Amino acid sequence: MTYNMTYEAPKDLLKEKVILVTGAGNGIGAVAARSCAAHGATVILLGRTTEKLEAVYDEIVAAGHPEPGIVPMDLSQITQPDVEGLAQALDDNYGKLDGLLHNAAILGDRVPFEHYSIEQWHRVMHVNSTAVFLLTRVLMPLLQRSDAGRLLFTSSSVGAVPRAYWGAYAVSKYAMEGLAKLIADELEQTSPIRVNIINPGATRTSMRAAAYPVEDPASLKDPEDLMSLYLYLLGPDSQEEHGRTFNAKDWGSRTGEDRGRSKVPE
Ligand SMILES: NC(=O)c1ccc[n+]([C@@H]2O[C@H](COP(=O)([O-])OP(=O)(O)OC[C@H]3O[C@@H](n4cnc5c(N)ncnc54)[C@H](OP(=O)(O)O)[C@@H]3O)[C@@H](O)[C@H]2O)c1
Repeated sequence: MTYNMTYEAPKDLLKEKVILVTGAGNGIGAVAARSCAAHGATVILLGRTTEKLEAVYDEIVAAGHPEPGIVPMDLSQITQPDVEGLAQALDDNYGKLDGLLHNAAILGDRVPFEHYSIEQWHRVMHVNSTAVFLLTRVLMPLLQRSDAGRLLFTSSSVGAVPRAYWGAYAVSKYAMEGLAKLIADELEQTSPIRVNIINPGATRTSMRAAAYPVEDPASLKDPEDLMSLYLYLLGPDSQEEHGRTFNAKDWGSRTGEDRGRSKVPE
């Protein structure tokens, strides 16, 4: 399969769209939120740290883009009533949801399996996969009201090929990819919602720095470099893409859907 390698998002790609981004306070999520807003979307900024969300909110408003919403929410704690409250607020304010970017995640420990803390296991699985299920399950009726609903799940190379010592992070990404594919299969014939998975690959963020502390951050791509692909998958131009995994390293360079193991984990 060939990627649309020259995609340049039109300025008004996401006009009138409402897009929720989890982990929108920093890293890839903050850049994706700003980028969606710059292309016309009203962005709902969900994250753990209110000050970080407010900083992104301020930047978006100062740039003259649609006013975002802020949802401080700790995904390690969320329950069904929390998400139902969010759904009600989104319904009251916007009446629909056009895009849900599952981006927030935590790395957890990278230790031998027999030393992995059970508490840590539950926390990583809750943030990286159970919260993803809960948000998707409860917000689905709002996505169904969109004429071009988009569900985008953020994975990792260890979500496709497990790697020693990556513990619950790898397993949670596996679970999330399974959920994404299951939902894609269920919706294929019954809904205009498009469901895809993105693997950003090695990107200059605090998570990457925590995973590879001796790596030179300057050797990595910037989150901005990913935005053509994110915008494509969140906007109406990706109507033909469904149930696919997109590796950012292939975007703009060559064809492919291969999830081969790289020497340096991404
Ligand atoms: N960077 C890479 O090289 C790379 C490679 C492959 C995949 N990915 C994936 O790309 C996505 C973004 O990663 P990133 O590198 O941008 O990570 P990051 O810089 O660590 O950002 C993660 C975001 O998730 C939020 N978050 C973490 N725990 C949360 C919780 N309990 N509740 C709500 N929000 C929470 C963080 O908020 P706080 O800062 O407030 O905690 C932060 O805004 C992740 O899914 C990651 O697995 C990244």
